[in-house]
Amino acid sequence: MDHPETATPLELSEQSRQRIADIIDRYPTGQSALMPCIWVIQEEIGWIPPAAIDHLVDTLGVTRARVHELLTFYTMFRTEKPAQYVLEVCQNISCHVLGAREIIAHLEKRLGIRIGEATPDGKFALHGVECLGACGHGPMLQLGKHFYEYLTPEKVDDLLENLRKDVVPRADTDRHLEEDA
Ligand code: FES
Repeated sequence: MDHPETATPLELSEQSRQRIADIIDRYPTGQSALMPCIWVIQEEIGWIPPAAIDHLVDTLGVTRARVHELLTFYTMFRTEKPAQYVLEVCQNISCHVLGAREIIAHLEKRLGIRIGEATPDGKFALHGVECLGACGHGPMLQLGKHFYEYLTPEKVDDLLENLRKDVVPRADTDRHLEEDA
């Protein structure tokens, strides 16, 4: 799938640029500072586009090969732009017993993709993941920091309808946090 790449030069907030400068000050070499600097960029823009690699090479004085080595070795680094909404459905044992398979099938049907794929417009990606620690509240899915629990096909439809309008509805985790406050 083609994704538009971020503009060159890299668009990075002043705060992230300062964090990178602080990291460089703390590490003895550019090479040793490389990994935490990649994190800062990914945290802000969600992936490491070519412009970010240029920025790392220029700022840290490391080789392009070294940056590629790290990006390809560690699976947590993304070198492709992620979908706008990444739906991570738990498919581990408790959620499985509670109906995760039905939820995944429903999401696949509604989105027109299989698990592990993204919609052609880059709006949604659907991933199957291992236990997310909400085993008694399944079936559930994670979207960013939000957990949507006790899912039913109707709740999934409601979630997708909101996300298509770029509204991230209140999640069960938001409710738990409010109750704990
Ligand atoms: Fe699904 Fe643990 S099994 S959250």
